[in-house]
Amino acid sequence: MRKWIAWPAMLWLICLTGMLAQEKKAPTPPAKLVFAAKTGNVTFDHALHAKREKNDCKVCHPALWPQDAKAPLNWKANMHKTAEAAKTSCGSCHRAGGTAFESKGNCTTKCHVKAAAKK
Ligand code: HEC
Ligand code: HEC
Repeated sequence: MRKWIAWPAMLWLICLTGMLAQEKKAPTPPAKLVFAAKTGNVTFDHALHAKREKNDCKVCHPALWPQDAKAPLNWKANMHKTAEAAKTSCGSCHRAGGTAFESKGNCTTKCHVKAAAKK
């Protein structure tokens, strides 16, 4: 009699722990993302950006972007001035007085590097 109670309970437990483990698993982050731009494609080193934030995904996801490379960046408008002023998108860090270099004066030196398009 006991067996009949124990077995379904065990199976249920295995199922449940499996489901929980699945849910906790974060999606594999990309190493690099290339953002197409007429002024020269931009290579975004995702691995390096994550590492600099001590792998705290929450710094960027989902507050700034969903974990989806097809989602809009909301960064392009008005030569980045809109996002920089609003401290959103890349401009939450990349702006005057931010934690990283602003776009002004760094267009082709840091971001729109033509060679990056070949990667
Ligand atoms: C500095 C900001 C930043 C941090 C920190 C960050 N990401 Fe991202 N991630 C991005 C950006 C930007 C995109 C592209 C979003 C877009 O195109 O709209 C992205 C996209 C992704 C994607 C989608 C890739 C694809 O091909 O669709 C995944 C998955 C992802 N990130 C996982 C992670 C994980 C896991 C972590 C934590 C270890 C993390 N990210 C930390 C900025 C960040
Ligand atoms: C959480 C803050 C943060 C966000 C958000 C962020 N960056 Fe950065 N980024 C940094 C830091 C910090 C550096 C390195 C310090 C510096 O060079 O000023 C950096 C450096 C870079 C570099 C130089 C290469 C490298 O990785 O060292 C590029 C290009 C760059 N970022 C592009 C972007 C783009 C494009 C976005 C938006 C899709 C973005 N970043 C969003 C913090 C950020």
